[in-house]
Amino acid sequence: MTDGSTAIAEVHALLRVLAAGRDVLELGSAFGIGAVAMAETARRVVTIELDPERAASTRERVRDLQNVEALEGDWRRVAAGRFGLVFADAGAYEWNRVVELTEIGGFIVKDDLTPGRAIDGDPVREFLLRDSRLVATELLTTPEAAAIVAVRVV
Ligand SMILES: C[S@@+](CC[C@H](N)C(=O)[O-])C[C@H]1O[C@@H](n2cnc3c(N)ncnc32)[C@H](O)[C@@H]1O
Repeated sequence: MTDGSTAIAEVHALLRVLAAGRDVLELGSAFGIGAVAMAETARRVVTIELDPERAASTRERVRDLQNVEALEGDWRRVAAGRFGLVFADAGAYEWNRVVELTEIGGFIVKDDLTPGRAIDGDPVREFLLRDSRLVATELLTTPEAAAIVAVRVV
């Protein structure tokens, strides 16, 4: 598990692959490190951060990247559109809204999971691994950390 300030390098490597050529939405920018990683391959990255100081830090970090838009606020109010990859990395989830923000054929990534936990009783796993609009799998990003990658199929 991370300290909550940025995703780990292994996850950023995965996101670089999934972002390639796509429009990306990142929920929770923190300091913009994930946005910079995804911007290396994405067509466009929209990243949203609730905390004003972190949002300012992200704006500063991405200011020379033409394909990154750094927004400040609660993603549940600010996010709009449909994206080919949604990196759900903020603490507050409304998963139906996350799915609505994902285009058909688009990916949803949720990282920072503890491996080996049961699906039942885990709201994140219950939704992402069982929602009928998604096909999803859980994979290890390190021996101690897991992520779910889902693709929206309908
Ligand atoms: C794990 S950090 C994000 C790390 C970043 N995605 C990266 O890979 O570098 C989670 C961030 O989500 C932000 N956050 C929490 N709730 C949010 C919300 N409702 N809307 C936008 N950002 C939120 C937190 O302030 C925190 O900075």
